[in-house]
Amino acid sequence: MYWEPKLESMSRADLEALQARRLLATVAQCRQSPFYAAALGGPGRAAPTLAELARLPFTTKEDLRGHFPYGFLTVPQRDLVRLHCSSGTTGNPTVVFHNAHDLASWANLVARSLYGVGARDTDVFQNICGYGLFTGGLGFQYGAERLGALTIPAGAGNSHRQIKLMQDFGTSVVHAIPSYLGRLHEVFGELGLDPRRDTRLRLLVIGAEPHSEETRRRIEALFGVKAFNSYGLSEMNGPGVAFECEYQTGLHLWEDCFIPEIVDPDTLEPVPVGERGELVLTTLDRQAMPILRYRTRDLTRFIPGDCPCGRTHRRIDRIVGRSDDMFIIKGCNVFPIQVEKVLMRVPEVGQDYLIVLHSAAGADEMTIEVELRPECFEGDFGALEQLRRRIAAQIRDEVMVTPQVKLVEPGKLPRSEGKAVRVRDERGAR
Ligand code: COA
Ligand code: AMP
Ligand code: ZN
Repeated sequence: MYWEPKLESMSRADLEALQARRLLATVAQCRQSPFYAAALGGPGRAAPTLAELARLPFTTKEDLRGHFPYGFLTVPQRDLVRLHCSSGTTGNPTVVFHNAHDLASWANLVARSLYGVGARDTDVFQNICGYGLFTGGLGFQYGAERLGALTIPAGAGNSHRQIKLMQDFGTSVVHAIPSYLGRLHEVFGELGLDPRRDTRLRLLVIGAEPHSEETRRRIEALFGVKAFNSYGLSEMNGPGVAFECEYQTGLHLWEDCFIPEIVDPDTLEPVPVGERGELVLTTLDRQAMPILRYRTRDLTRFIPGDCPCGRTHRRIDRIVGRSDDMFIIKGCNVFPIQVEKVLMRVPEVGQDYLIVLHSAAGADEMTIEVELRPECFEGDFGALEQLRRRIAAQIRDEVMVTPQVKLVEPGKLPRSEGKAVRVRDERGAR
């Protein structure tokens, strides 16, 4: 049941010894990059032991963007074979570069994760996820291929075609974003089909956005199979950072490749085991762009105790939120400031706006209520409609999701006392 029995079930002492060796190598490698050469101080400073990890500086998204594009590179550019960018930033994107070793290591982690939930080389794996710069596309593609599964790079969208692919090729494993599976199930219904009866599906992998245990159970009931939680982020490769095992009691974080810490987001001090805080990750097996103590902004906790599966890598709980204002809609990361930036470029737009996230007919939607200057309502309806479409298109270009835009008169949006409330999330328990 293990992809790599020795690595997955090694004693904590051996695992920590491996981490310590890899941390030393990682810190030495980091010093090759302009950013860490400065942040870590001169080469004379003692290399850290595991216990001294906390003496290393944190790395933030702002650091990555501030040293765009090559400030974190530790190898010559000719060694690079791929880059991915994270969505959800204004200005410079967060870019991560990989060499051939990094991609092989990443694919192996995804294969390990998939094997752990029961996927095998006999499976047909359909990846219903954005390809391109999104890491869930190529990340799962190469991971499932490494596992030996027949892998269908289905991409996002076009639910009819997704269902046809599932039926034509006997798809047995699907990776998709949880909020999309409600929509997919609806389309099964519209076609008079039931995925429990009319497909060969045997398991689901869901991730890339926060979702509650109740949502998972609902998805499992709709599709009649188990759905396993997959966690990752582009800065740490993408999927394959932490994954549930067959027991579904938290996500094993692959500690041979990452050192996890959980800190209080305000004080940045470690929280007691079992308490929630922000996940901080250090890469241990990345060559082109190793990252030390990355503040993920994702809130979770370590689950104390051992897992019945016998893996020794610690488990984190499902992500319950963020320590910043990023939200995820249709699998796309969005910061309110991105929407604001677009709106403030439009001369007709007044001061206030509100982003409302809601569910409609099985799918998640984003509605943006935008306050216009009073004089805009004196013109004809056609001009307003044109403006509405222009704003929607510009926001879609920025955040990759098409919003509904509602234009409202000044004073019509709810006023908040103190800090303006920019996002109202009505999607229920996440
Ligand atoms: N995954 C897969 N398909 C999705 C989806 C998702 N998260 N969200 C929506 N879709 C489907 C819709 O159901 C629709 O297809 P259908 O009408 O045949 O059912 C189609 O994509 C277009 O959706 P719509 O909501 O009209 O478009 P949009 O312009 O708002 O969104 C997407 C465009 C879906 C392409 C964009 O949001 C996207 O690429 N999402 C996927 C992101 C992703 O994969 N993230 C993972 C990162 S690891
Ligand atoms: P990206 O870098 O675009 O892949 O987005 C990564 C972010 O998506 C993470 O930092 C989380 O906020 C979120 N995310 C990924 N997987 C999960 C998951 N399983 N549960 C909750 N949030 C997730
Ligand atoms: Zn386990």
